[in-house]
Formats: sequence, structure tokens, C-alpha cells
Amino acid sequence: MSHKIQTLSGYIHEYQKSVLQPEEFWGRVAESFHWKKPWSKVLDWDFEGPDIKWFVNGKLNITENILDRHLFIMGDRPAIIWEPNEPGEEHITLTYKELYEKVCQFSNAMKAQGVGKGDRVIIYMPMVPEAAIAMLACARIGAVHSVVFAGFSASSLADRINDCDAKMVLTSDGNFRGTKKIGVKSVVDEALESCSSVEKVIVLKRTGQDVAMVSNRDLWWSDVIKGQSTECPAEEMDAEDMLFILYTSGSTGKPKGVVHTCGGYMIYTYYSFVNVFQYQTGDIYWCTADVGWITGHSYIVYGPLLAGATTLMFEGVPTYPHAGRFWEIVDKHKVNQFYTAPTAIRALEAYGLEPIEPYSLETLKVIGSVGEPINEEAWHWYHDHIGKGNCPLVDTWWQTETGGIMISALAGITPNKPAHASLPLPGIQPIIVDADGNELTGNNVQGNLCIKFPWPSIIRTTYGDHDRCKQTYFSTYKGLYFTGDGAKRDHDGYLRILGRVDDVINVSGHRMGTAEVENAINEHPKVIESAVVGFPHDVKGQGIYAFAICDMEGRTVENLSNEIIQTVSKIIGPIAKPDKVQIVPGLPKTRSGKIMRRILRKIAAGEMDQLGDTSTLLNPEVVEAIIEGSKK
Ligand code: PRX
Repeated sequence: MSHKIQTLSGYIHEYQKSVLQPEEFWGRVAESFHWKKPWSKVLDWDFEGPDIKWFVNGKLNITENILDRHLFIMGDRPAIIWEPNEPGEEHITLTYKELYEKVCQFSNAMKAQGVGKGDRVIIYMPMVPEAAIAMLACARIGAVHSVVFAGFSASSLADRINDCDAKMVLTSDGNFRGTKKIGVKSVVDEALESCSSVEKVIVLKRTGQDVAMVSNRDLWWSDVIKGQSTECPAEEMDAEDMLFILYTSGSTGKPKGVVHTCGGYMIYTYYSFVNVFQYQTGDIYWCTADVGWITGHSYIVYGPLLAGATTLMFEGVPTYPHAGRFWEIVDKHKVNQFYTAPTAIRALEAYGLEPIEPYSLETLKVIGSVGEPINEEAWHWYHDHIGKGNCPLVDTWWQTETGGIMISALAGITPNKPAHASLPLPGIQPIIVDADGNELTGNNVQGNLCIKFPWPSIIRTTYGDHDRCKQTYFSTYKGLYFTGDGAKRDHDGYLRILGRVDDVINVSGHRMGTAEVENAINEHPKVIESAVVGFPHDVKGQGIYAFAICDMEGRTVENLSNEIIQTVSKIIGPIAKPDKVQIVPGLPKTRSGKIMRRILRKIAAGEMDQLGDTSTLLNPEVVEAIIEGSKK
């Protein structure tokens, strides 16, 4: 089953077909999968609702396409290679047959614990093969998984559990990350103090640290699988049944549960994976993301495994035990495709070339980037020193909501241009619009990035609140999906993503809503009001800059700033910690009382000469004071 584009003219041809006859195009890709019942119509859609259905009435189970289908021809081929945190610990290879058996066994274990089709299961686990097994086992029995990144706090975890009314939590005792051993089960215990829906918690032993096991609720992974069969029938799922919920931050309120469904997500993650990375049978593919993010879902687990690929999972961090660890792993496992984030590249670049020198990196054929705009400097470093100047570098633009890669070069097929995501994949119809939603055609234009036609892995809803999905993505511009990103089409017709145009900060490729961070800061009893903006950060891409009006009684600036940072870490998790906290006498406001974030963004970026007219503010004098304070 290959839908791999082989040449530039092939790309042009496929792209045209996908736009002129999208249903025929995607129907043809879908035909090569195993369906329990065929679909009656490829696509039904309306962006107003939004109401989008792909492969209407089709029945399938995604795990049959990942596991059963691959058993006979390549059951002995490695599906997952797992590289542990400690280089001295043995790595693990699971063949497709072994993965099949482990998934079936765990599916039976979950069923025995009362989980069935439609139930929500939270996965709060480190990067171990069992995390992928857990996801696939949910999919096998029709349970809806929601993976929560294991760095989120108890309160963030509790919010997600409560939002989706999860029945079960899958977790581990602890997590190895570099030199640290981090408690994981203890966070679940704290979260569950405020969750009533969870009936069972299954705990994988990873670090061996002490954990409290609550009777009648907590069970060890090794116990629940005992005696369970390694065969489990795959539940029949409608193409539009939920496959998973993944929470992501937006510009307002709490994170929302992005919903992806079975059929379209399967087709698109497969198709985009083989085409962008030009995966060939036998290649070893490695994506360094965590399964807690969409990249881990689509391009560690689902896409590669649907393609029968060998996907490498790494438990640790790029700098442990040394800054050459990534490159050591590439050589050790003979990695052919390597996919990482610009923030990791910039962090490693800071160590110079020495950590790379011991490694040949000669097996690499394709290198990729995801999560944020990659600046030209980092692009060249990655291309020259890791790709040795002869690996195509795919700069892949996409989002949690898009499910799969939308704009990217196809490695070695379509042209590479530094810092440009470049061209849309077949089936993707991006347009650039001005503030009023008018399409800007031609080259050399810049505006907001929208998509005008559905693709199979588009977001279907936000869990439990369809109106939020409509308001966030389908209401800004009528008849269009709005990405929240700005983009430019350059003089050659290549797309360059310019970053978010809403109140979302992209920190190391992770999305943080400014409102979410402000809400956390405001929980500190001494904080009266706060405003959070992003600012350029050498390694993280963007850092978090918090301005806060505080009651200073009994506090110094320094200890209050630290307390605010700790509050955010406790409420959301360490990834949301502000890089800078500035205590301010006031915040610049319009006469209607709205905070002028534009001014704060300029101050945070040190662009004091570009503040524009501040005289119409309610409190112009405060700007001077903030500028003064920012210099300290
Ligand atoms: O702003 C874009 C940025 O990351 C956002 C999506 O974040 P998230 O849903 O967490 O998914 C990240 C992994 C797909 C986008 O709105 N972004 C992602 N990839 C790129 C990017 N910005 C520029 N270039 C990219 N290649």
C-alpha cells in the first residue's frame, strides 16, 4: 500500500487531483486500509456547524490497521525500539507480533477492570513502550484515550480528568529524566482528591520508588495483565467515533479537549508520514517528542505504526548524560529519519560542535523540525552539522487541531527553503487572508493563515463544548478554518509561518495561553492583577514575561517574584513558569479598561522605540514606570 509521491511532478499532479476531486483522492488512499464495513460517502461537511464527517458510515478499528494487518508479512519486524534514560540500561525492541500481543493483553486487562467502548481513559505516563501500548489498547477496545504530558501538575491533571469524566487513569510509579527520578503516581494521587469519576488506576512499575496504593482503586500493571489472553477482538468503530481527546491551550480560559476521530485521523497520519519523511521499508525513524503532545500521537505512534515503520521512543533528555546523547542514539540505532523541535536544536547548538564529533550520523537521510518557526540560524546549523548538508530538512507546520502535518516539504521531492514550511501537502488548501477575511492571492503577501477545505484529520469538536470549537476556529472568518497563525507567501510562492497572532505563547514548541498563565498568577494572594506576554528567547523561541500588580506588604520584589513563579509551576506545571516577573505599579489600559498587550509585548522585547502612540491610554504615565522597571 504505497501512496508515496516520488517526484516533484508527481507532487504537482497529486496536489491538483486532491483539490479538484478531493473525495476521489482520499477515497483512493482509504481503500488500501482494512475496513470492517465500507463507507457510503467519503465526505460530508459544513464549516458553519462545524459538522465534518469523513468516510461516512465506514467501520474500522485503527489497531487492526496497525497490528493485525502487519502480522503475517512482517510480524518479526521491529515496531518500537525503546531507548531508556540511562545509556547503560538495555534498550528494548518490540516486533509487530510482540506489540500485537502486548496490546491485546492490556486491552483484555482494561476490559476486565470495567472499561469499554466510549469510556475515557487518562494516560499520565513517562516515555516508555507501555505508554504506546496503553494508547493502542484503548483504541483496540474503543475507549477514548486522553494522554496528559507527565510534566503537568496535579491541578492541571485534575482539570483534564474532570473535563472528560475519565473512568480510569494509567500511570507509573515514577519517571526517569536525566539525573532526576520524578514522582508520577504521587501527582495522580493528589489530582484524584478532586476527581470523582475515576474508578481504577493502573500503575506501571518503572523507577521502583515507593508509592501509596489505594485499595479497591489502584492496581499494578503487572498484576492486571496476569492470565490475560494475548488475543483480543478489535471493537468495531464508526469512522467518526472518537479516537482520542488531547487537551491544548488556547487564548481564553482553560485548555480545551481537541477531539480526533478514527477514520480520517488514520488515513491522514499515515499519508502524511510516508510522504513527508519518505519512509522506506526497513528504515529506522525517530521523533523526539513526548507522547503527551500531538506530535507524539501522530508521528511516534499512529502514523509510523500504520505505515509498518520502526519507530524509536526515547525516555530521556537531549543533554543526559552528555550533550551528544541524541547523536549517540542516532548512531547506535542507525536512525534514518530524525524529527525534533527547534528549541532542542538551539539548546544543543549552544554546546558547540564538540558533542557531535564522535558520531558519524551517516545513516541519516531526512531531518525534520516541528513545533515553532525555525530561525534561519538554527536551520543552517541543523542542516549543516546534523544533516551534513545532504539531508533534506522538512520544516513541518501543523497543530494539535490539524492532527497531521499540513505544510511541509516532502523530503527530497519538493524544494527546501530555510525557515519556510514551504508547500501544502496534497489535500490541504491554505489561504492567507487580511483582517477582514479577504483572500490575499499571488506572491509576496502576508496575513492570517486559514484553511478553506476540510482534510481527513481536522478537529471535529472540543470535548463537551462544541460551541467553543466553532468560536475558536470557524467563526473568525466565515467559511474558513482559522489557524491562529500569521503567514507569508514569499516571492517564490513558499509559505513561511510567522507565529501566533492570538494570545497564545509558543514556549519551546509548547502552547501556553496567556489567560491560563494569568489565572494561575492571580491565584497568589498578593497579586492584584497580572498580564502575561511572550518575548523572544534564544533557546525557547518565546519566553513568558509576566507583569503583576501586587500588594508588597511583607515581601521583597525578589521573594514575591519567586513565589509567583512557584505558584504557576504548582498550578499548571514547570513548563509554564514565567522566565521573568516584573512587579509593576499599574498596567497600560485603554479607556474601556482593556489591557494594551501590544505595549507590554514591545517592552518585553526591549523595543521601547516602537511603542506607538500611548497618549490615548487611560494611564499613559504607567508606561514610563514599566519601562524603567524592565531595565532593572
Ligand atoms: O504557531 C504554530 C506552531 O505551533 C502551533 C501549534 O502548536 P501545537 O498544537 O502545540 O502543535 C505543535 C506540534 C504540531 C502552531 O499554531 N508551529 C508548529 N509547527 C510549526 C509552527 N510554527 C512555525 N513552523 C512550524 N513548523
